[in-house]
Amino acid sequence: MRDILVIGGNRYFGKRLIDRLIAAGDRVTVLNRGSASPPAGAIHLVADRDDEAALNSALGDRTFDVVVDQVCYTPRQAAIARRVFTGGRTHRYVMTSTIEVYEYEDSLVYEDAVVPVREDAVDPRTVSVDLELPWHRAEFRDTHYGEGKRQAEAVFAADGTESPYTWTSVRVAHVLGGHDDFTGRLDHYVARVRTGTPIAVPTENRPSTYIHVEEIADFLFWAVGEDFTGPINAASHGLLTTEELCATVARYIPGGRAVFQNVDVGETSPFSFARSYGMDNSRATGLGFTFGRVQEWLPRAVAETLGPTADMDMDMDLDMGADVDGDGDGDGDMGADQESDREAGFDTGSGRKRDSGSGKGN
Ligand SMILES: NC(=O)c1ccc[n+]([C@@H]2O[C@H](COP(=O)([O-])OP(=O)(O)OC[C@H]3O[C@@H](n4cnc5c(N)ncnc54)[C@H](OP(=O)(O)O)[C@@H]3O)[C@@H](O)[C@H]2O)c1
Repeated sequence: MRDILVIGGNRYFGKRLIDRLIAAGDRVTVLNRGSASPPAGAIHLVADRDDEAALNSALGDRTFDVVVDQVCYTPRQAAIARRVFTGGRTHRYVMTSTIEVYEYEDSLVYEDAVVPVREDAVDPRTVSVDLELPWHRAEFRDTHYGEGKRQAEAVFAADGTESPYTWTSVRVAHVLGGHDDFTGRLDHYVARVRTGTPIAVPTENRPSTYIHVEEIADFLFWAVGEDFTGPINAASHGLLTTEELCATVARYIPGGRAVFQNVDVGETSPFSFARSYGMDNSRATGLGFTFGRVQEWLPRAVAETLGPTADMDMDMDLDMGADVDGDGDGDGDMGADQESDREAGFDTGSGRKRDSGSGKGN
């Protein structure tokens, strides 16, 4: 039986990860501030991970095989964790990171990139850390989400005499699906499609990479049991445009329609991106993880999040391999043009980069 600590773990894919670990026979300890109960079967510790003394006190003399840190957003939090978990408290540390580590001021080199972004595009060992920035301020953290994650990775990746444990950061694509998507990003589109309200997109709007909520839980479960180190990208195969996303939403809303409005400046909708990047997932696939394809699971994800209010004008979307191409043959095969477009989109990795603050920080 493995001893696993999950920091966070009481909402979205944190809960699903815990369910998987418990089902596999692991002893799971969940640490958070106690706003909601963790899944049944987990041991619950209550502490604020920002408070080093409280964290140490809650952990007592417990040791773990693996820690999964679901809520490390800043280098200060990482520095505390690195100190607390040094000295044999864990053998492995899995930090949940984000695709947004690839968005930073000087990363224009990736604009319109023709190849997907690999992990080495951001090497945390070369990222500068500034512990003096106002990381304690929620607003600063929100507006520096990618920077906070980058610097947190850098703290874990730095050489140290203690060489505490094997460490990996899972760079998670945008997550979709589930009845409990709390981010409101899909709801943003649902509300506008329902009423025909314009959806703000950049003049040149790019696709991006995504992952289903169950798939990222599977991925983290897999990462717990592996021994690779350093950053690893987690994204389903394929790229998705705002238009494709909205077209799928519209299929569930009778009379719904997606109207787009180009904006040059200001806030764009959460899943629209003026800059290019797609995540290359070949490191993970090379290590043995099998990803799904975003176009195949998207209808299911939208239906889950819309919930019982979803008024499908098609009832064929809930299974993988359903008629996601909409060509009416029910086989899910895309027409030659569609398929080559999507394949080209994925294979050339013309992934896209967000430039808007909307939807960040989760
Ligand atoms: N959703 C996406 O599209 C997306 C994409 C890329 C990456 N991510 C990453 O996914 C992770 C979140 O996953 P999740 O939503 O499934 O979360 P989760 O594992 O369920 O953890 C969230 C819980 O952590 C607890 N927490 C927050 N701050 C804490 C603190 N200072 N000390 C102790 N506990 C704290 C909160 O509960 P209490 O209030 O009870 O403490 C919160 O409900 C984040 O690292 C995010 O960057 C998400």
